[in-house]
Amino acid sequence: MTIPDDIRTDETLDPNDWDAMRALGHQMIDDMMDYVQTLRDRPTWQEMPQHVRDYFKQPLPQEPQAEADVYQDFMEYVMPYPLGNLHPRFWGWVLGTGTPMGALAEFLAATMNSNTGGGNHAANLVEEQVLDWVKEMYHFPPESSGLLVSGASMANLVGLTVARNTLAGYDIRTEGIRANHRMTVYASSEVHSCMQKNVELLGLGSDSLRLVPTNAAYEIDLEALQATITADREAGFHPICIVGNAGTVNTGAFDDLNALADIATREKMWFHVDGAFGSLVAITEDYRHLTNGMDRADSLAFDFHKWMYMPFEIGGTIVRHKDAHYNAFTLTPTYLTHGNRGTAAGDRWFSDYGVQLSRGFRALKAWMSLKNHGIQKYGRLIQQNIEQVHYLLSLLENDPEFDITAPSPINIACFRFVKDGLTDEQLNDLNRDIIYELHERGIAVPSYAILNGIYSIRVANTNHRTRHEDFDMLVQAVKEIGSELVG
Ligand SMILES: Cc1ncc(COP(=O)(O)O)c(C=O)c1O
Repeated sequence: MTIPDDIRTDETLDPNDWDAMRALGHQMIDDMMDYVQTLRDRPTWQEMPQHVRDYFKQPLPQEPQAEADVYQDFMEYVMPYPLGNLHPRFWGWVLGTGTPMGALAEFLAATMNSNTGGGNHAANLVEEQVLDWVKEMYHFPPESSGLLVSGASMANLVGLTVARNTLAGYDIRTEGIRANHRMTVYASSEVHSCMQKNVELLGLGSDSLRLVPTNAAYEIDLEALQATITADREAGFHPICIVGNAGTVNTGAFDDLNALADIATREKMWFHVDGAFGSLVAITEDYRHLTNGMDRADSLAFDFHKWMYMPFEIGGTIVRHKDAHYNAFTLTPTYLTHGNRGTAAGDRWFSDYGVQLSRGFRALKAWMSLKNHGIQKYGRLIQQNIEQVHYLLSLLENDPEFDITAPSPINIACFRFVKDGLTDEQLNDLNRDIIYELHERGIAVPSYAILNGIYSIRVANTNHRTRHEDFDMLVQAVKEIGSELVG
């Protein structure tokens, strides 16, 4: 059949003018490097003006806009209004700072546009290599399996899924949840909220997540844990998994992981550790003892976009039992059969170990960053972050205008500004307002934790750009703003 010339097209999305595209790419690199190099000169955060909010209400573009103009729009409406987590004085929630090398790796990964769900190509070897390094960092056996995922929420989901499927005692993938077989999961009341989402997603229901009380250091109460498991068994429940915290989100507390491993072994339960950021103290000289017992976990969730300073998104799960991991997720329809030769070959397809079939090349930024900086430097930086927080605490400790509101085993400090004569309720409001002011004035971004009803200013230092002097500035600013608001 002959197609008339006037309707035969071979359109493409590649640029018409490669030289112009190349020049624009160079411009982007220059602008981004300038931006990162001069972060300190900018506020930590700024409010978006109304015209910026309005700008994002436009209809779907119908016609092309020149690349340079699109980039100009990005520079005008997006780039000036970040969350602020690259800034040296950002310590909110547990966010990472990223690195220039990580950003460049993202560009390379996006250019290759590899799909790491499976197939016979180097990107999968890169992920295997990164996972082998992770096992080495965490002292897991080399025959363990693993998977890189978007972050710790997903990493915990992978671990809990393997736990549920392995410990259900029947073929849950085929049968689904049995109404008369109530499986229960145990964690401290300080466990991250993703764990509740995960048990809900797994069909267990949030009631099945038993939140065990903690001691004054926010570590799980072992006796209460044991008593809850025993009572549940007697009541006909099926306890399947204990989740240990290696660094809780509020205060950085570590559960006694060895004791949890002992209980899990005795009770024939799965032992999963949420080590989103805290697991990384395993690579420090002076704080690695906190992770003792973590290497006994059946599965471990970790994040590299938090305390390994890599660009979002990258977390992962290591599973000690490779077959259990594989059996929880593998599904190979004919159109995904793994070949013996050629592009489809390869005995390890990552899509057999998680939910995603198509997967990006997130391993590249980890591989390039680890090679570039070396694990020892990461260990030093993580330790530096902890010691910077100790410095902050030393500034607060003897100052009558501050209360320290929680123990700080690692990189998180919780405290509040106090004034005589104010009730706890008034202090809660005052400290909330201090945080708003710090944010809005662009001075610093701490977040908050509510600890035994006390609203606390919370600094989580996963920032490789922070210097000790940044904490001098924070303390000074809190005192000034606090006095101003009280006055
Ligand atoms: C202890 C802990 N677990 C899980 C998560 C969830 O991680 P992500 O945000 O990467 O999904 C966080 C996030 O801060 C965390 O601190």
